[in-house]
Amino acid sequence: MFQLRWVWARLAGSRKRYVFALFSAALLAVMALGNSLISANIMDTVFKPLQQSGETAPGSMQRLGMLVAVLIGFTLVRTGFGYFTNMSYESISQKLIYELRRDLYQNMQEQDQAFYSAYRTGDLMTRLTGDMDMIRHAVCFTVRQLIHCIVLFTTTAVTFLAADWLLALSMLAVTPFIFLLTFLFSRRVHPLYVELREKLSQLNTAAQENISGNRVVRAFAREGYETARFDEKNQAYKEANKTASLLWLKFSPYVETLSQSLSIAVLLVGGIFLINGRISIGTFTMFNGLTWTLSEPMRSLGMHLNDLQRFFASAGKIIELYYSKSTIVSRPDAVKPQGRVQGQVEFQDVSLKLHGAQVLSHIDLKVEPGETVAIMGPTGAGKTSLVGLIPRFADATGGQVLLDGVPIRRYDVKSLRSSIGMATQDVFLFSDTVDGNIAYGDSSMSEEEAKRFALMADVAGFAEKLPQGFDTVIGERGTGLSGGQKQRIALARALAVKPSVLILDDTTSAVDLETEKYIQGQLASLPFPCTKIIVAQRISTTKRADKVVVLENGRVTAVGTHEELSQKPGYYREVFLLQNGGDSSEREVV
Ligand SMILES: Nc1ncnc2c1ncn2[C@@H]1O[C@H](COP(=O)(O)OP(=O)(O)OP(=O)(O)O)[C@@H](O)[C@H]1O
Ligand SMILES: [Mg+2]
Repeated sequence: MFQLRWVWARLAGSRKRYVFALFSAALLAVMALGNSLISANIMDTVFKPLQQSGETAPGSMQRLGMLVAVLIGFTLVRTGFGYFTNMSYESISQKLIYELRRDLYQNMQEQDQAFYSAYRTGDLMTRLTGDMDMIRHAVCFTVRQLIHCIVLFTTTAVTFLAADWLLALSMLAVTPFIFLLTFLFSRRVHPLYVELREKLSQLNTAAQENISGNRVVRAFAREGYETARFDEKNQAYKEANKTASLLWLKFSPYVETLSQSLSIAVLLVGGIFLINGRISIGTFTMFNGLTWTLSEPMRSLGMHLNDLQRFFASAGKIIELYYSKSTIVSRPDAVKPQGRVQGQVEFQDVSLKLHGAQVLSHIDLKVEPGETVAIMGPTGAGKTSLVGLIPRFADATGGQVLLDGVPIRRYDVKSLRSSIGMATQDVFLFSDTVDGNIAYGDSSMSEEEAKRFALMADVAGFAEKLPQGFDTVIGERGTGLSGGQKQRIALARALAVKPSVLILDDTTSAVDLETEKYIQGQLASLPFPCTKIIVAQRISTTKRADKVVVLENGRVTAVGTHEELSQKPGYYREVFLLQNGGDSSEREVV
């Protein structure tokens, strides 16, 4: 039930309208009885005297005409009223879903890396789409139908009891059994819908991964395997759907039979009462005409409770997402740097543990403003993790990182990140134009300016040759571009925010040596002050740095200039020799 309370809280602003619409649902249910009551009145006041005396009572025609006119008017009012309340439900629920989706999306933007490694994309997509629709359906339809059922049932029961209590009780005798069955069904169907919801999420995840990884699938000729894997999930979803649907089918014959027995009760008990003269023909007609208003709610209650259980399963998932909070947030007393930061970066005894694994241990490192520091080390040494601490992708579990002498946790996260330009190791580009991608960090950037950064990162050379030049829309994740081209756009994007601290994680690994040399020349003469932290595997990059830091097994094992380190036995010298063809002379590749 907390799910309903939560949705109620989200309806703020539309609550009065919603309550009015629900009230209208109740009123419409009561009005549904009107037709039968008017028909009964026609029976008793017009037809009965005719049948008894064989003559038309004076004024019968007028009365008939008047009652039929009331009947028509009544139907028109009901239809019109129904139309307007339907419109209300639709607009209220659409507004609710729009706002919810907006808030959820915004909350997702605030999440940290831990969140994105915990949730699968397919699952998040399911929450934003299918689960949302379940909420809309509940607000727009299920709750209204439940109210309709309850009110219709209650008013009919009261009307019947008032008309003839004995006949009414003989009909109502089956209702406890129907309610018991429906209750049992509702309890059993809930876990099935939780399961069904999970299967849908798995199906979406399989599809999403397959679409994203389509190149890998084709490269390994695993289409058959992937189809079979998808089919497995599809099958599981179908089965879960079938199990949930079949459950109601198991209950429905009993509910159906019990509700059908109402008509029999009217004919049999009502018939006897009519013959005995206990009830009038009008009362009999009313009972007969209103049997459906008693049986229909009982029959459809199960279906609506079914929908309600689906709603509970989906709403639970949405609420979880709505309240998930990133651990990396700005403190209430967070500072926003006044103007540009200097770009002094310092690691003080920094350690990092991720999921129980010690990734970094006791790192001490100071990078002065404007300095260029290269970080080198074997794969898995912790280089990406180390540089990721600066924009707070993760928080150090020991020690602290400082920017301009201030611990980074004291900065407002957004301000901190906007001082940093970063090109990550796995390049991600948006399906946008080339200059749209470059200007990603600053959408107010002019085309000329974007091109200036494109030139620095050597994007211009290849971008101009694209079909629409810089206006060419590149595919999702940059399909249609080479690895080196993607890296260069990522570099231009990082430079375009004119950062005080530039972090390049293996950004030039896929570009040729000549291009790399050009880029390094550009980086050395950037038109704004900038501290550069460059993760690199090539000696051609590290030798230009002011300082080289060697990271092995999450620890700094050597710090020095290229000249110093290439003379000292250790990892750096080994790499240096290897890249020079194993010759220890000063001959270099570049
Ligand atoms: N989210 C995580 N949970 C647990 N361990 C992690 C996580 N992310 C990274 N690691 C581990 O941390 C270690 C360092 O990873 P990192 O990506 O920083 O290495 P790297 O030096 O950048 O390697 P490469 O040169 O291959 O890019 C690895 O052993 C990796 O398995
Ligand atoms: Mg890395």
